[in-house]
Parts: sequence; C-alpha cells; structure tokens
Amino acid sequence: MKAYPYQISSLSEYQDAYQQSMENPAQFWAHIAEHFHWHKKWTPGAELNWNFSEPKVEWFKGAQLNITENLLDRHLADKAHHPALLWEPNAPDEAGRLLTYKKLYEKVCQFAHVLKNNGVQKGDRVCIYMGMIPELAIAVLACARIGAIHSVVFGGFSAQSIADRLYDAQATFIITCDGAYRGAKDIPLKSVIDDALIGNHVVEKVIVCTRTRTPVSMLKGRDLWWEDEMQRVEEMGLTDFPAEPMDAEDPLFILYTSGSTGKPKGVVHTVAGYLLYTHYTFVNVFQYQPGWVHFCTADIGWITGHSYIVYGPLSAGATSLLFEGVPTFPDAGRFWDIVDKYKVNILYTAPTAIRSLMGFGLGPVQGKNLSSLKVLGTVGEPINEEAWHWYDQHIGKGKCPIVDTWWQTETGGCLISNLAGITPAKPGWATLPMPGVKLLLVDENGKEVVAQGEETVSGNLCIAAPWPAILRTTYGDHQRCRTNYFAAYPDLYFTGDGALRDKDGNYRITGRVDDVLNVSGHRIGTAEVENAINMHAGVVESAVVGYPHEVKGQGIYAYVIYQGSHAQDTHGSGDLVRKDILQTVTRIIGAIAKPDKIQFVSGLPKTRSGKIMRRILRKIAEGETDQLGDTSTLLDPGVVDEIKRGRV
Ligand code: WTA
Repeated sequence: MKAYPYQISSLSEYQDAYQQSMENPAQFWAHIAEHFHWHKKWTPGAELNWNFSEPKVEWFKGAQLNITENLLDRHLADKAHHPALLWEPNAPDEAGRLLTYKKLYEKVCQFAHVLKNNGVQKGDRVCIYMGMIPELAIAVLACARIGAIHSVVFGGFSAQSIADRLYDAQATFIITCDGAYRGAKDIPLKSVIDDALIGNHVVEKVIVCTRTRTPVSMLKGRDLWWEDEMQRVEEMGLTDFPAEPMDAEDPLFILYTSGSTGKPKGVVHTVAGYLLYTHYTFVNVFQYQPGWVHFCTADIGWITGHSYIVYGPLSAGATSLLFEGVPTFPDAGRFWDIVDKYKVNILYTAPTAIRSLMGFGLGPVQGKNLSSLKVLGTVGEPINEEAWHWYDQHIGKGKCPIVDTWWQTETGGCLISNLAGITPAKPGWATLPMPGVKLLLVDENGKEVVAQGEETVSGNLCIAAPWPAILRTTYGDHQRCRTNYFAAYPDLYFTGDGALRDKDGNYRITGRVDDVLNVSGHRIGTAEVENAINMHAGVVESAVVGYPHEVKGQGIYAYVIYQGSHAQDTHGSGDLVRKDILQTVTRIIGAIAKPDKIQFVSGLPKTRSGKIMRRILRKIAEGETDQLGDTSTLLDPGVVDEIKRGRV
C-alpha cells in the first residue's frame, strides 16, 4: 500500500510521474501541494513564474503557509505520542532522549516565545552555531515558526568564518551552546562566538544552551541562558505559539557554501518550494514507510542535515534520529551500535564515512544486529564501487537497496537518485533525475551533448527548468547568484559538476569542473583556502588543488611561496612553518579546510598573462608528473621541473 498518494511504487509510475512533471510542472507540483496545510491557497494558474536570465523563480507566490505547521501541528492529531526526534549522545553511556511530536511542538512553540520576547521579528536573520543536540532542531524550527530566517553555521567553522557570515547576513541574534562534544573533543562554541563578536555592533542577543558546562563568559545585557529563558515561558504555562503566516516565497533560511571565488555564498531557500521538495524526495527516494526510523548521519550545519534530518522527515511524520558524535567514537562500531539500538530502518551517510569504517575491517560490524535496515543511502560525493559493495554486503547484507543521491546546497533536495527498490541501482551511478528535474549535458560552448546511438556521453551537468527547491538568490547579492549559476550557459542552471549519461538515461557524476574541492563530502573552494594561506605572514603566494585521497575522496594540496622569517626552515623539513600555516587556515576558515600537503616552491607555473596553470599543479599533486600536457605557454617552464622534484 502507498503511504502517500504521490509515493511512486513502480518503474512505470516513475516514468509517468516524470513525464507529467515535464509536461505540466505547475500542475504536477500543485497536486502535491494540495496535501499540505495552507493559510491561503495559490491562485490557479499562478503556481509558477520563472525565468533563468534574471534569475527569478516563484512557486505558489501569494499563497501563505507556515512550514512548522506542516512539520508539527498537522501530525498532532494522529502522531502526538509518536517519536519525532530520537537523540543519541556522543558518549554511549549517557542517556539518550526521545521527543514525541507533541513534545517537539511544545518546545518549538516555547522557544518561539523566547525569540519573540527577545525582540526577534519576522525576516530577522538568526545565526545558529550549536552542536548536534535536539535544541539545534528546536532553534531552527522556532525561527521558522516566527518567520525569522535561520542561518546555521557548522560547529567546525572558526570565529573569523562566523564573523564573515554574521556580517554578510546582518544577523541580529545568535543561538549557541557553551560547548559541543564531538568524539574525544570538547569544542568551546560560546568562546568561538565571543571571538566572532569582537567589533560586531549588529548582534543584539546571544542565547546559550547548556551542554558541556564548560566555563563561558556571559555579558550582561547581551548573553542569556537558554534554560532561564525557557523556564520563564514554561512558568507562564505557554505551550502554543501561533505560527506566522508566511508567503510561499518568503525566505526560510540562508546556508553558506563555498564557491570558486574566495567568499562563501549565502544560498537562500524559500518556504513552500523547499517544504514540497524535501517532503517529496524524502518519501520517494527512501520509500519511507510510516513507523520507520530514519538515521541521517550528517550534521544539521550542512544542507543534508537541514533537508533530511529536520525538514523532510518531520514533514512526513517520521522518526528522525539525531546523533551528536562521530562514527569512530568510542570505536568504529558506533553507527552499527546505533542501528542495533534504535532499530534503524533507513541509514543515510557519506561515502567518506563508509570508506573510513571499511578501513577498520569487519570486527566492528560483527555481533551487531542490523536486520532492521531496509534502505541505505549515500550523499555528498561519488561513491567508489569498492565502498558501494562493502556497504551493500556487510551493512545491507545484500537485502537493502542503496540510493546514491546527487544534489547540492543550492538544489535543496535530491535531484538525481534511484528510488529505493523501485528504479534500478547502478553502483557508482546516481542514475535517474527526480520528477520535475530537467537535466542536460553541455560542452564548454554550451552546446547540448546528444548521444549517437547507444554511446555513453559526457559533459557539464545543467538543468533547464526550475524544481521547487532551487535556490532563489545569494543573500544580499542577486548578481552573484546570476553569475555563479545562470551565466555560464544562457537559460540554464549550471551545477559546476561534470557527468556521464548512459544509453538508459542514467547519470554518473564525475566531480566538480570548477575550482571547488570535495573533501570528505564537504565543499571547499580552492580560492577560499588560498586566501587563508595567503593571510599567513611570510606567504607570498599560494595555489591549492585537489588530489585523490583514499578516505576523504579528495585531499587538499597547497603549493606555497614563502619568504617570511623562518624561511630557512623551508629548505629543510619546513615542518614548523607548515604547522604555522595550518594554524592560520584553522583560524581563518576552520580545521576542515586544512591542507593535507604543503609544498614550498620558489615560483608557480604561470601563463604570460599571469594566470596560474592549475592543470599542471593538479597533475603533479596527483602524481602524474609525466603527463603534464602542453607547457609551452608557460612564462618559465623551468619552475615545473623544480615543483616536480619537490613533490611531497
Ligand atoms: C557533490 C551536498 C557525486 C557534487 C548534498 C555536488 C556528489 C556537491 C553527490 C554538492 C553524489 C553530492 N555523487 N557527487 N551522490 N552528492 N555530490 O552543496 O560535486 O555540500 O556539486 O551538497 O557534492 O555539495 P553540497
């Protein structure tokens, strides 16, 4: 039986849905939108308005709803006592938590009061910098309830990164924790926020939720304890908060992501389209069945956590599991313990996690009861066949379909994926587009690549029409949205990825074609890392490229011209200077952007017009020093030999 009228349950139903979505997208999505709770319906005929030249995309503009009523209130009738969130703490011996739909609803409403009491208004930007505890989901949803725009910043970013994001979003409010537990580490979140706020005159209040009870400074008039604020609301007996009616096209959140330029972009998603699309993809890709426990291992600080821990699963009334820790703490069997303990049905993780766990052998898997698993998923980077088969055999025991979901921060939800057990899987291939997603491959000149006969073709992956959760703008700079995504090829959204397409229409993502790296499934722009390295005193110039890394997918390789004090060290091992540079990158961006390798060089291969030839640097980093291609346009070909010799 179908759990939802729009749940696709056969290949031919998929084909029909796809065809309908192409013929009449407005009608296709309106049929699904009918199933949600609206304050005001859209005007028939005005479901969709778009052009990619500005770009402008409007789904159901003029209609009104609140996303949290669709995630919470509408489940209270039949799922009030059903678990909405399960929480597994970092340390396995600490008790977990269970929040029913009713409990979550009440907490969200109470925290919405807290926000309101402290002056947060519809449209205000609220930065959330917290560890993976239920209060993070509560904070996100309370913002949505009052119509404030949340901007979650992953707990691994540095004070400088937060400061840049606060400034860009002109955020007036911060929600954080004293600290966060991650594996063996305690991360002092509040103290990082304090550093980020030096010189900031825009942020009015900081709410601090207690987790690690690490000592924190609390400034009078600015810093407030979460618990005190909640207690005040509880004492007043408040458990409801009227949801703010939002226009379908009002912004829901901003999420910053790396691009090929130095500065992160604030990707903006809007209320209705994002709700529809995360819901539709959640129930279809994973073939979610009522009562199932869904475990997405991402952090809510990334888009995967937004869409498939919070919004998608709750929109479906599912039980979503939130895990505070890391896969290898206290040992590499942690995921399997969690699956066993909570009888997890859907496990959604990243290839990098699978590869790293594979490295520990089968010991940590043995003795764990994984028989509850029904569907496995991967996201964030291409999955190599070895990891795919290991996941299939040892985790799914050959019985669980694996969905390889391709998507991006900008796309809001999965765009290419098989539907679990419904459309065929092909290891290493994300396979078919979701209904509503009109893909095409183009060559460098923007000409569509069309297959001759049964050949597999390759090209740059583009999309020719809007699906509901396409980004609407980059916050505060619409031109940037245009130049980044819609200018490379006229009237197309360009993903930045290259892809293959086989004769059956399956897609395989080959990786980024721009200067963006994918390190452990996280996007990092090379320009951002270069900017950070160049801020280190003594660094004259740097160039950053990716190279294949067994666990991380891609590693970061930095070529650095260094003439500062201690320069003599770089003629020896250079290890101290390397560590200084890593420290600088950690300060400027965060530990996730630290280069894996740093090579000191005296010059970089440049063309006569001064452009760094990254192609050459990439080849050297990959170890393909004999196949550098044409180097005749180089200003000084001699520098290449030196770089080859000094490869680390
Ligand atoms: C890559 C993560 C291959 C891709 C949801 C994309 C993938 C970038 C896959 C977006 C996949 C994501 N197969 N590559 N299944 N999923 N990618 O914004 O390069 O953090 O452009 O969103 O990750 O990363 P982001």
